[in-house]
Amino acid sequence: MSITRLVRPELRSLHAYDAAEQVDDTIRLNANESPRRSTIGNFRRPLNRYPEVRPQNLQSALARRFGCEPEQLLVTRGSSEAIDLVIRTFCRAGKDSVLVTSPSFSMYRHYAEIQGAQLIEVETLAAQDFAIDVDTILAACRDTTRLIFVCSPNNPTGTVLPRAELERLLTARGEASAIVVDEAYIEFGDTPSVTELLGRYDNLLVLRTLSKALGFAGARCGAVAGPEVVIRILSAVQAPYALATPVVECVEDALGQDQLELAEEAVRETIAERERLAAALLRYDFVHKVWPSAANFLLVRFADAAAALRHCQAHNVLLRHFGGSLGDCIRISIGSRNENDQLLDALDTLRDKGHD
Ligand SMILES: Cc1ncc(COP(=O)(O)O)c(C=O)c1O
Repeated sequence: MSITRLVRPELRSLHAYDAAEQVDDTIRLNANESPRRSTIGNFRRPLNRYPEVRPQNLQSALARRFGCEPEQLLVTRGSSEAIDLVIRTFCRAGKDSVLVTSPSFSMYRHYAEIQGAQLIEVETLAAQDFAIDVDTILAACRDTTRLIFVCSPNNPTGTVLPRAELERLLTARGEASAIVVDEAYIEFGDTPSVTELLGRYDNLLVLRTLSKALGFAGARCGAVAGPEVVIRILSAVQAPYALATPVVECVEDALGQDQLELAEEAVRETIAERERLAAALLRYDFVHKVWPSAANFLLVRFADAAAALRHCQAHNVLLRHFGGSLGDCIRISIGSRNENDQLLDALDTLRDKGHD
């Protein structure tokens, strides 16, 4: 079984871009580069040279970190690029469909719209902490449904799809759809990554990012992991030289042992702050619900979300409001202890104004 049959027919036999050869200790007159090495920045590799078409060291290091083989992983410019690549590779404009759950991360819709793919939205179970219902997903699938995005832990609800339910979805769709599990927030919960399942399910793709737990949103680095044959096609679709030399070197450094230990400590702090903030928020009369979260944010229902948002903004604290079915909710990212205290100070003044 292979989901390569779901790839746009014109891309199935696409070859990787034929880039100029790069060989160490040679005189490189084959890529129209400048011979003059720039003095800007302090990089290990010369900036006058193109980076590797695909950064091999980084690919191996990220594969080790994410628990797959290097050939099962493509390094991308944030997981946002991976979402775009997957949709462009699998969906024919005006014909194929992408299934997303709602509420969830809006970028799936954004890239589906850009590609001209149809969007099927399946509501999560609001009364059950926005649990994803696999039976509703299966009932909503059409013949054209190439991709099913499952965000776990989900943004903005913090909900995790249990492993057994994911496996039920993978099995039921088989080679009819690729299941794309977005694990942007996986490090903040206690469930292991589903990259473990890559050897068992040929229709599984997993998105990972360095923007959250590792703290490198500014470096723009993420990855998509999946079956080797699919990764090869995604790699052929991705722009050559996608990862710039400064990014490659920054991320190589970020994956050093001491940096990883610092990142783990930061994750532990975020989890502790998440629990402290959740308990503190529940003490306000105007906070009606704080959902359990396996991520670095909390979804909170307010008596008057718009007023709370405005009030916090006036106190220099920005929060995220989504509207729609979450009109009475606000998503609060977990900041440092000091930042979270400033949020609580702002909410104290809201309480003291007599808001209820
Ligand atoms: C669920 C989810 N996936 C992917 C992303 C994109 O992350 P990045 O492109 O920074 O890797 C985000 C960003 O907020 C997200 O919430």
